[in-house]
Amino acid sequence: MRTCSVDALRATPRLAAAALSLAASLTAHAAPAAPPASAASVAERKELYEGKCGGCHSVDANRIGPLHRGVVGRKVGSVKDFNYSPALKSLGGVWTPERLDAWLTNPQAVAPGTAMFFMVDDASQRAAIIAYLKSVSP
Ligand code: HEC
Repeated sequence: MRTCSVDALRATPRLAAAALSLAASLTAHAAPAAPPASAASVAERKELYEGKCGGCHSVDANRIGPLHRGVVGRKVGSVKDFNYSPALKSLGGVWTPERLDAWLTNPQAVAPGTAMFFMVDDASQRAAIIAYLKSVSP
């Protein structure tokens, strides 16, 4: 009986430690996934934008592609001094989040012959990038 209870006493702290470290790792994993508007996710969206689009676009300057500030709600092909392809120039309408989603899924399907070929296959990445574009639009 005595050995038994000693074993139990020895085992308990180990169990408690295991439970604590499990709880700690669960908390650590849960934290970054928290509310979508947290500072961390804003930074992550910007990073995703820079990584995927930054090779050709920037928010405030025309590069290989047109500048993006104000793009949500902006007329398609309307940035001054950017030399659009005829395909994009003649597309018409305004960039909505839905339209941007289709564009990023496959620009050639939206405006056949456009000079943009880059696609984002992952829907959650498209959503994060569009959320970022919204954040730099009025
Ligand atoms: C390899 C270069 C390249 C990459 C990468 C790229 N684009 Fe483009 N993008 C272009 C070019 C070039 C145009 C102009 C297309 C035209 O004139 O037909 C364009 C046009 C656009 C337009 C139309 C803007 C307007 O004023 O009508 C949007 C919106 C856009 N890109 C979003 C994005 C986003 C968001 C990403 C990142 C996920 C991205 N692009 C990645 C080259 C690129």
